[in-house]
Amino acid sequence: MSQPSVLIIDDEPLMRLSMMDALKAVGCEVQDASNGTEGIERLRANRYDLVITDLRMPGSDGLQVVQSCKEGAPDTEVIVITAHGSVETAVQAMKLGAYDYITKPFSMDELLLTVDRATKIVDLRKENTALRQELEGKFSFEGLVGKHERMRQVIEKIKLVSSTDATILITGESGTGKEVVANAIHRNSPRREYALIKVSCAALPETLLEAELFGHEKGSFTGAVKQRRGRFELAHKGTLFLDEIGEISPMVQVKLLRVLQERQFERVGGTETIESDVRLVCATQKDLKKEVEEGRFREDLYYRLHVVQVRLPSLRERKEDILVLAEHLLKKCLSRTNCEIQGFTAQSNEVLLRYSFPGNVRELENTIERAVALAQNRKDIEVWDLCGHQSCPFSGGTVQEGCGFCQEGLSDGQVKAALPLRISTGETLAKAREEFEREYILGVLNRTDWSRTIASKALGLSRKALWEKCKRYGITSADEPDESDTSA
Ligand SMILES: Nc1ncnc2c1ncn2[C@@H]1O[C@H](COP(=O)(O)OP(=O)(O)OP(=O)(O)O)[C@@H](O)[C@H]1O
Ligand SMILES: [Mg+2]
Repeated sequence: MSQPSVLIIDDEPLMRLSMMDALKAVGCEVQDASNGTEGIERLRANRYDLVITDLRMPGSDGLQVVQSCKEGAPDTEVIVITAHGSVETAVQAMKLGAYDYITKPFSMDELLLTVDRATKIVDLRKENTALRQELEGKFSFEGLVGKHERMRQVIEKIKLVSSTDATILITGESGTGKEVVANAIHRNSPRREYALIKVSCAALPETLLEAELFGHEKGSFTGAVKQRRGRFELAHKGTLFLDEIGEISPMVQVKLLRVLQERQFERVGGTETIESDVRLVCATQKDLKKEVEEGRFREDLYYRLHVVQVRLPSLRERKEDILVLAEHLLKKCLSRTNCEIQGFTAQSNEVLLRYSFPGNVRELENTIERAVALAQNRKDIEVWDLCGHQSCPFSGGTVQEGCGFCQEGLSDGQVKAALPLRISTGETLAKAREEFEREYILGVLNRTDWSRTIASKALGLSRKALWEKCKRYGITSADEPDESDTSA
């Protein structure tokens, strides 16, 4: 640490002075207070790395100092000085959060040693905080979190193109963050003071979408009882986000092309030409190039939209982002709720990493929201909170049908590791072995969709031997094709 700041609180002037001298000599920045009350006031006004306080003082005593310090500045470490024979009070101080205590009489070397250890802790904590902040800054941009190389490239691209007026096409599977990117582009553009207007092109039939985009004049169609401005007008000087652009009809494609080429349009049923200064950002899950090749999307419009393309990778293509995103989404979710949860268990992290997330980040977000609701009063989110059902292999149950976390989240080793949890102690070895065997066979059968051929191979048994074991352990299932059938 460059120059640790220390506050010394002691009512004995001589003691105070010698401690101050010793600490100054090793480069500390020192302030002092001659009693507890004054010390607490100083603590309220300033930030210190370290507080050294006597325990027995008139007015507020050392314990009150520790308490007040830990409440107001929990990162400040406190060393208490205790008289010989009053270790109990020192222990009490430690319980309140003091870092350490030294017993009078002590040498200055002893004091400096303890101070050195405490400042190292403070140092480490500062480093960690800085690192976390750096990571947060590095791996996130305008709500878009990701440390995978491809996400870093996406963020760099957004930073680069936001300041221009270039039309942007965002592509990616559902839930990959296309809308987050559109928001980030707008917020980073010179147009941020104006509106970001969003239209989902898939939500409306052709004629309604046309009126929605370009507005309409009174009486232009049944129900058009008054003139209405369209989204292109509302987004003037701002950004227009056209979501699911791959869904627009050939007629709307033509009209859109014209706005992009001439920067002007007419309302539906109108003759007045309206100038439009709009930056267009579009998104689609579709492969627009393929749509062009198959004649469903105009090639000229495609090239107009495709000026800059931001391609978002699926979550399974950037597994290293899963845990960073999980932490981010958990924090986001916790900020709206009031519960004890602090993080995920190591097993939960493993399962998250193994799962394929077909619904991408949205699915991860929903999973976390559900898990938070289930884990409420616990410190960590368990695998079964992620699954959403109590009985999963991690809680001693079996793989639940249709549960991706159960099916993909387990390695064979974990199936083995999870199963003995159900075996109660106090059994004979033979009984425990039987119990284990039954559970294990059941687990493998579930994981192989009750294919006897695959299951017997995985278990290293003949099909006949498996059949016999199933019979012995009473393993049956509605999924079994036939009781007597021992093949797949
Ligand atoms: N990189 C990311 N960082 C943080 N949150 C993200 C990220 N990507 C997606 N999300 C979150 O996931 C959810 C889904 O994202 P978004 O709505 O942008 O997906 P989308 O690609 O538009 O999906 P769809 O095609 O289904 O409309 C949102 O709640 C969003 O906040
Ligand atoms: Mg979307």
